[in-house]
Amino acid sequence: SLHTVHTVADLRAQVSSWRAEGLKIALVPTMGALHQGHISLTTLARQFADRVIVSVFVNPTQFGPTEDFAAYPRTLPADQVILQDAGVELCFAPTVEEMYPSGFATRLHIDNMTDMLCGASRPGHFDGMAQVVSKLLLQALPDVALFGEKDYQQLMVIKRFVTDLNIPVSIIGGPIHREQDGLAMSSRNRYLSAHERQTATTLYQVLTAIADRAARGDAIEPLLETGRQQIAAAGFTPIDYLEIRDAETLDLMQGIINRPARVFVAARLGKARLIDNFAITPH
Ligand code: PAJ
Repeated sequence: SLHTVHTVADLRAQVSSWRAEGLKIALVPTMGALHQGHISLTTLARQFADRVIVSVFVNPTQFGPTEDFAAYPRTLPADQVILQDAGVELCFAPTVEEMYPSGFATRLHIDNMTDMLCGASRPGHFDGMAQVVSKLLLQALPDVALFGEKDYQQLMVIKRFVTDLNIPVSIIGGPIHREQDGLAMSSRNRYLSAHERQTATTLYQVLTAIADRAARGDAIEPLLETGRQQIAAAGFTPIDYLEIRDAETLDLMQGIINRPARVFVAARLGKARLIDNFAITPH
């Protein structure tokens, strides 16, 4: 049954005792407000590990000054029920003081891939994310850690710094888990009104239409222009980006797609900034 700890010392004590039994350990970092997208990662984790840890921590250093840090949903008791039902063994829910005690002074900066996509509209976001994920990986030292392709750029940044810093953890990406109508599950979907929730599926419709046409060999510029118009007409404003990039390097692509790519979107609908992406596999 689910056990919850709040300190690094208690996390390490539990991990050490599992290690002594020879068990494999997985970590799924989250900010809580858990939904089936998070649980798809804990389910995937079972393929790699005997024990699954979920961290729940709303990390202040990855939010900008005008972003939703204060408003971000904090629902630990409900999260614990979801984790218990999912068969997760350990929940690590540290306080801000436990993660960033007074005197804390260390930052991480990742070059190149953090100035595009969400990095352009959220300066400092990926550095703050990398700071907390590197701490969580070193605190738990799991065999594997799992992250969703929902935050595709985040997954690529994590793979980069884990390689660069020789952190001895395998990073596994999991597919995007969607609602019936295609909307990517997200903790921020709860900011949507009933009407906005209906409109929100436009992102999925536009991404899949573009991915389909681009995979058939249509030039992408007119597809993206039509897509932007459709997203704006649905009521999204601003549209931070709608772009097609190389699936590995995240280099911007133009013309006709001839290698694995992804179409990426970020746009605001009411109080929610929504992101999504979809694979393009040329025929
Ligand atoms: P959070 O948004 O809570 O997401 C936690 C993990 O769940 C991330 O790896 C994210 O990509 C994944 N996830 C979210 N929605 C998903 C969906 N619909 N399908 C598949 N996976 C999904 O991402 C963060 O938290 C934070 O930046 C964190 C990595 C925890 C660092 O603070």
